Amino acid sequence: IQAEKAGYKHFMLKEINEQPRAIRDTTLGRISLDTGRVFLDNLSITDEEFRAATQITIAACGTSWHAGLAGKFMIERLARLPVDVDYASEYRYRDPIADPRAIGLLITQSGETADTLAAQAELIAKGSKTLAICNVVGSAVTRRASGTITTNAGPEIGVASTKAFTAQLTALFVLALHLAQVRDTISPEQSLHLATELSHLPSKLESILALHSSTKVGMSEGVAAPTPAAAAPASARTPLPPFPFIERRTRPRLSLDEHCQHLAKLFHNANNFLFLGRGIHYPIALEGALKLKEISYIHAEGYPAGEMKHGPNALIDESLPVVCIATKDPNDPSSVLKYEKTLSNIQEVTARSGRVIAIATQGDDEICNLVEHTIYIPPAPELLLPILEVVPLQLLAYHIAVRRGCDVDQPRNLAKSVTVE
Ligand code: G6P
Repeated sequence: IQAEKAGYKHFMLKEINEQPRAIRDTTLGRISLDTGRVFLDNLSITDEEFRAATQITIAACGTSWHAGLAGKFMIERLARLPVDVDYASEYRYRDPIADPRAIGLLITQSGETADTLAAQAELIAKGSKTLAICNVVGSAVTRRASGTITTNAGPEIGVASTKAFTAQLTALFVLALHLAQVRDTISPEQSLHLATELSHLPSKLESILALHSSTKVGMSEGVAAPTPAAAAPASARTPLPPFPFIERRTRPRLSLDEHCQHLAKLFHNANNFLFLGRGIHYPIALEGALKLKEISYIHAEGYPAGEMKHGPNALIDESLPVVCIATKDPNDPSSVLKYEKTLSNIQEVTARSGRVIAIATQGDDEICNLVEHTIYIPPAPELLLPILEVVPLQLLAYHIAVRRGCDVDQPRNLAKSVTVE
């Protein structure tokens, strides 16, 4: 097993580091970098059917559902086609309105999740064709679908999904681009620009993941020994350290992994975490919260940044770490507008003594003056930022769970694939 982990302490860490390859392999052969055209093989859905489609109905579970929520933003923005996103476990119980021109889209790492298969059966019974985004060739969902976009992430062993998620986001982006080209909703120049930007993602991820010696087992600066904090009652845990004003100004540049280890050291005793995002970054906030709760057993909630004033603001005090996704594409006015709104949400949190960890875009020198901690990711077009910004959230959850002595790859009460309803 140690050999299968390729020197990493856990499968999850190995899989986090495999994401550049997973994204590259999911794009490979599907996009021309000369023209930006998308080629999707083996779909028995014609271009005419895509043009006539009235909507896309996405059904999925867990992390795959978060990918679906982000996919809604991609498809609606690029292809101007309405998208509904359902929990697969809810879909058939709400007596969905039949529309044979709606195309069903099932997103599933395993292709065997019982609820997702049931939603697919319901869609097919109502006359819709179904597409699958799936990581396992030949799985049940792919056998029933009219076409599959395979995510080439390779086998995922860690129960908490990481590389399958970023590969799903990549496949959704490719699908959105394809729909936009078929439906003629973007120009050839935009297509080429977006295809080129997509092709740059793996190397951008490589640059932030660039391994530091402490990441692998057996190196001189191994990850701090796990503490049994998870087992200790909340009252016995040490309080969060005070706001490190001085540290923020003097700490030298850290790698992403070191930075997340540092934050884990500061915040692993928290009882609650909040994750905030707006627009396409909101599903990533949900995913950050899910990663943390499933492997560290800390209660975490993801929330749309603008909804804080309608309830969660009441939770904020000096013991609440709040992870705010505040990235932006400076070339996209709608992205900048959302960013500015998120900045005012961040100020509302800091005014109430919340402990803000911001995920921001390199080059944004303003935000680090407003918050306690800033993690930078490389710039990208708005719809591609989620693929970069989820990685620090995965690493943060990972290092917090390791510090709390949790079984990162096999969290209690959870299964990799849930084949019962
Ligand atoms: C389980 C796993 C999650 C996964 C979900 C959906 O709950 O623990 O990581 O997101 O199932 O699985 P699927 O294979 O359908 O993507």
